[in-house]
Amino acid sequence: AATAGGTTKDAKVPTVILTIGMAGSGKTTFLQRLNSHLRTQKHVPYVLNLDPAVNKLPFGANIDIRDTIDYKQVMKDYTLGPNGAILTSLNLFTTKFDQVLEFVDKRAAELDYVIVDTPGQIEIFTWSASGAIITDSLAATYPTVLAYIIDTPRTAGPATFMSNMLYACSILYKTKLPFILVFNKTDVTPHDFAVEWMSDFEAFQRALMQDTSYMSSLMNSMSLVLDEFYENLNYCGLSAVTGAGFDDFMAQVAKARDEYYAEY
Ligand code: GTP
Repeated sequence: AATAGGTTKDAKVPTVILTIGMAGSGKTTFLQRLNSHLRTQKHVPYVLNLDPAVNKLPFGANIDIRDTIDYKQVMKDYTLGPNGAILTSLNLFTTKFDQVLEFVDKRAAELDYVIVDTPGQIEIFTWSASGAIITDSLAATYPTVLAYIIDTPRTAGPATFMSNMLYACSILYKTKLPFILVFNKTDVTPHDFAVEWMSDFEAFQRALMQDTSYMSSLMNSMSLVLDEFYENLNYCGLSAVTGAGFDDFMAQVAKARDEYYAEY
């Protein structure tokens, strides 16, 4: 079985952490903190940036989609709007993804983690053919876990919470990969309410009753569905700004990976 550092008794196998999150959830800040956290722990990360539209990355990427694909040029060449251009850029990059895997493979023996940034418009990544090809080829090569970054302060109302959880649930079903809910920005709003709602169905029902009107019956049924989703879920709270909670996050990564990839 794999150990927390991603090593087996035979050879080192890096763990891929694929980061997904809505715009503004703090994905970039999270990756910056994760990158430095891993380095201070003497774990070697390899950084892949798959977001063609990011202006400035606050950390160095080993492979950056922007090095080969000029997103603004794609907009001009194909007369596309921003979302169409992100999708087309991803499609163009996916045709070269076998080369990306070769680069990672050359370094794999010395790596502990491969951390991947994805476009802030998550649906472009999760629902496109190229997003699926990239995800599947990574997951077929290395143990891969998905970190779904949540803006905790903005998800503290029961209705918003549930819609965010349904979204997370749909990504889980789509990718079928080990999944970690990452409640970010806990320096602003601690994620205790989320832990309570995920572990105590009745507490969530009570919160819903105070919050909703005509939607309440549908929301009640949906929250029953989600109760099952929570049961097999890994989650943690952290702050990408202060760095609190990253040790727990890494423990969740190891747990999610080891439960899923028992053969590694
Ligand atoms: P896009 O680039 O639009 O996709 O956003 P993103 O998800 O990459 O978020 P980004 O890292 O740019 O963070 C969005 C805002 O949230 C910024 O103002 C960050 O400073 C802030 N932020 C991110 N993480 C935290 C956190 O843990 N605590 C607090 N207080 N603010 C945070």
